[in-house]
Amino acid sequence: MSLESKLAATSALLQTIAAEYPDAVLANSYGAEDMVLTDLIARLALPLRSFSLDTGRLPAETYELMQQVGERYPDHPVQVYFPETAATEQYVNLHGINGFYQSVELRKSCCAIRKLEPLKRALAGRSAWITGLRRQQSPTRLDLADKEYDADNGLLKFSPLLDWTEAEVWQYLRDNEVPYNALHDRHYPSIGCAPCTRAISVGEDIRAGRWWWENPETKECGLHVKASPLKRPV
Ligand code: ADX
Ligand code: SF4
Repeated sequence: MSLESKLAATSALLQTIAAEYPDAVLANSYGAEDMVLTDLIARLALPLRSFSLDTGRLPAETYELMQQVGERYPDHPVQVYFPETAATEQYVNLHGINGFYQSVELRKSCCAIRKLEPLKRALAGRSAWITGLRRQQSPTRLDLADKEYDADNGLLKFSPLLDWTEAEVWQYLRDNEVPYNALHDRHYPSIGCAPCTRAISVGEDIRAGRWWWENPETKECGLHVKASPLKRPV
């Protein structure tokens, strides 16, 4: 399928989501895929909202892009969610500011406090959310559908870029002069929190720089689990 037809299919899906689930929200991590969706939503003038989970540990480049995106898309403000103060303070005081390097358990509990709890608040009361997930990002994402029921969070989950390749994402960003995270130009294809993300080398998997000290099977933060494909069409 050409980029043109993928773009048409993605635009149609976003339009359907806006019509059928007007309270749907885009989860924006300010990665390349989320920038494609942000630009498309603005270009199509869809009344879809966006949010971002600011873990407090994001790289400076992500904060720079946040500011730029606010200026470029003034009609589409991104609602920011911070972690709960008390839980964050308790974690840091008990385990140290970088306690997550000590064990998978402590890594997951940091993600639970800094990402999952704020995600629950961002999704509360909504019927659907939209993500920038792509199949090619990881073996764990191969059998995703573009519309799933997210049982963990109790709402629908749409991934309109599921079949896009990394090259197509970049083609779109270049063609439309969309701002993007400066770290992408420094061999960071996938960007999360600063202490848990590093650059990859030639030939390495695109998510190899995320939680690089862990085994591949533990490398998900819990934002994307347990969704089940829906058979019926959108
Ligand atoms: S993660 O699970 O490993 O962190 P990844 O970085 O690949 O996820 O991003 C996949 C999708 O999850 C993004 O396209 C975005 O929709 C959502 N997402 C990830 N991190 C955030 C964040 N900090 N804020 C909002 N959405 C996010
Ligand atoms: Fe904490 Fe790292 Fe998870 Fe960010 S990615 S919430 S710093 S463990």
